[in-house]
Amino acid sequence: MHSIKDALDKESLTGTTITVAGWVRTFRNDRFIALNDGSTIRNLQCVIDQEKVDAATRARFTTSAAVQCTGELVASQGSGQRVEMKVGALEVLGDSPADQYPIQPKKHSLEFLRENAHLRFRTNTYSAIFRIRHQVSFGIHEYFDQEGYNYFHAPIITASDAEGAGEMFRVSALDAKNPPLNEQGTVDFKQDFFGAESRLTVSGQLQAELAALALGKVYTFGPTFRAENSNTTRHLAEFWMIEPEAAFMDLKGDMDLAEGLSKHLIARVLRNSMDDLQFLDTRLKEEEAQKPQAQRSEMGLIDRLKFVLENPFERITYDDAINILLRSKPYQKKQFQFPVEWGVDLQSEHERYLVEKHFKKPVIVTGYPAKIKAFYMRTNAPGDFGYSEKGKTVAAMDVLFPGIGEIIGGSQREERLDVLEARMKDMNVPAEELWWYLDTRKFGTVPHAGFGLGLERFVLFVTGMGNIRDVIPFPRTPGSAEF
Ligand code: 4AD
Ligand code: MG
Repeated sequence: MHSIKDALDKESLTGTTITVAGWVRTFRNDRFIALNDGSTIRNLQCVIDQEKVDAATRARFTTSAAVQCTGELVASQGSGQRVEMKVGALEVLGDSPADQYPIQPKKHSLEFLRENAHLRFRTNTYSAIFRIRHQVSFGIHEYFDQEGYNYFHAPIITASDAEGAGEMFRVSALDAKNPPLNEQGTVDFKQDFFGAESRLTVSGQLQAELAALALGKVYTFGPTFRAENSNTTRHLAEFWMIEPEAAFMDLKGDMDLAEGLSKHLIARVLRNSMDDLQFLDTRLKEEEAQKPQAQRSEMGLIDRLKFVLENPFERITYDDAINILLRSKPYQKKQFQFPVEWGVDLQSEHERYLVEKHFKKPVIVTGYPAKIKAFYMRTNAPGDFGYSEKGKTVAAMDVLFPGIGEIIGGSQREERLDVLEARMKDMNVPAEELWWYLDTRKFGTVPHAGFGLGLERFVLFVTGMGNIRDVIPFPRTPGSAEF
């Protein structure tokens, strides 16, 4: 058996007899089967001889029927493809009754396809997205391996909720209807499976830090869970996060790593997924044509990827960002929904203004006010990039991408025990619970840094899709965990 990709691309196969199998996309003129096996977005045209295939069999070549064809690959008569198959023998492996199959060869809405998520992989759009998702995932391992990072498996269940990255889902083996109670009359989690109240992780960072302070360079790549009730096109309750962490790395190194990884992944997708990108590029152009002129993006998908690959990311401080926003047209015309003033977090509308209107390229913002960032981020001193006269800042960095906003969030970590302890106290982070984390600052502490990249946000960017539910196989969002 050969893949359709090989049948179309390997010139050595032309003139030979091979077998392929896949699902019927269309059957035209009672002769031409467009067959797709998922190895490429392109179909193999399989031409049958009507005298050899009876009418009853031909009636079974309905959309999504599984068919195996054996025949000679010959130079194509038609214009659409280099080769086609002259079918000698064929077998219907699995029928697909046309009156019941929900996805027909016409344009369906993405909402409709989300409701049919179990079958949507058979469309061009979703097969392209998931092949690209593979390229990005594989590229992540490739990049970190190349850079000397160890793949590190952080736990998924945790009894600590100290990181504070988001609301958490509880993991329990107690009888939900009749849980054991303690003397205070509340649920006694000491009797639960782990002997303590446990939850699904919101981040593997704290554990990755422990490993980085011994292995030097590590990265995690795993599922992450957040029970926030945010029904946006950028949030999932279950998503995949990549968290590198490196000892002896400062904020500059962290920014270089984030930019290096992003560019490596874009280059890989441009190299390996051009067919799929071309399809998605056309799809996006058609979608943009429906929008009013002012909302259309200036560049097509492929041009945008090349542009990000070829240009350095802009690196600015939070102070710069606030100043730019205060001078901006939308601010002066009161078009921003959220306030702009030193001390408040940047909202998506502000991030997108900086990236899409002001700099027109990815932007890394550093030196955020300490108050709005996590306890483990390193406090800036005069002379540090991101230090501000206006208030205490930390060595945080957010990488903002066009069309999406934040794709990466990271920081240099606070390695000074006394500073860290004071900050935790300030922010009401329980030191007792994090005794193991604090130990790393007691024994051989060193400067270190890392970040978290949201896989789905990155895949949104490289596919040009608009909704995060379309770039993960089976999205988990508030009110929805079907399939
Ligand atoms: O900015 P976040 O919350 O950072 C952390 O969790 C740190 N512990 C990372 C680190 O320094 N090791 O999340 C990191 C990234 C975000 O930039 C975003 O891309 C993605 O994870 N993300 C989400 N993606 C989809 N759905 C959600 N609900 C997400 N929340 C965060
Ligand atoms: Mg963040």
